[in-house]
Amino acid sequence: MSKMTLEREAKRTIPELKGRKAAANAPRITMVTAYDYPTALLADRAGMDMILVGDSLGMVVLGYDSTTPVTMEEMLHHAKAVRRGAKNAVLVGDMPFGSFNASPEEAIRNAVRFLKEAGMDAVKLEGGVNQAETARALVRAGIPVVGHIGLLPQLVSATGGFKVQGRNEEGARQLLEDARALEEAGCFAIVVEAVPDRLATLITQSVQIPTIGIGAGAGCDGQVLVMHDLIGLFDRFTPRFVKKYANVYDIIEEALLQYKNEVIEGQFPAAEHSFTIKDEVLERVYGE
Ligand code: KIV
Repeated sequence: MSKMTLEREAKRTIPELKGRKAAANAPRITMVTAYDYPTALLADRAGMDMILVGDSLGMVVLGYDSTTPVTMEEMLHHAKAVRRGAKNAVLVGDMPFGSFNASPEEAIRNAVRFLKEAGMDAVKLEGGVNQAETARALVRAGIPVVGHIGLLPQLVSATGGFKVQGRNEEGARQLLEDARALEEAGCFAIVVEAVPDRLATLITQSVQIPTIGIGAGAGCDGQVLVMHDLIGLFDRFTPRFVKKYANVYDIIEEALLQYKNEVIEGQFPAAEHSFTIKDEVLERVYGE
């Protein structure tokens, strides 16, 4: 990527992003995950509209097998680092499993922590009709909410794995209902994950708020990808819907091997990486 595209842009706002849906020729919404200062800085400087501190953190950064174990404390720790790196993007904190499921009151308590302690602009929570009441309570409490329908990674052990959603009539109808319920609850955008492209387009046309697709085709109002998938820094698997724009894993591996070999062979550090001392100082020290 050239330096030209890494310049700081204008501060994004939720009303502006929401308004793009109705505006003619408005650019699609760009969103990517970030989990720390350097990835947030890069995403922000690349001009991303939104940065999601996703609970995918658990898998791509913390090494868990799923997102289920991720805690609020872990999310807040990383969200604070993202806040320090990003100045312009709208920042969204992902409510981890267990932080919103027991009651709307608990959801409000945890969502408020994202805004007050970590400086997030909004929160995201997984679920459709079943979470509409919680989404509504959050919005009423003054917390901007992004919904998330389709494949819900927090529920993969209950639903049987990472599978495309809405392929049969019942599933497709359910997703349309989910999207409408979240819009009605006051969400300002909805992430649509792993849904057939034409169904995602229909969902997009059925609501007045932007849809942000991941594995949901080109008909959504925006797109989101997991940072470590798109830059090639996750070793375990790459979902089919991901386009890998770089292979950072290989670059880091090569650098580490080179460093190790140069240390073993005495090539690193070279003179240019070392500090000098005057002869007379050294002579006096030797002379003691
Ligand atoms: O946690 C995450 O990264 C997400 C994206 C897949 C949208 O929820």
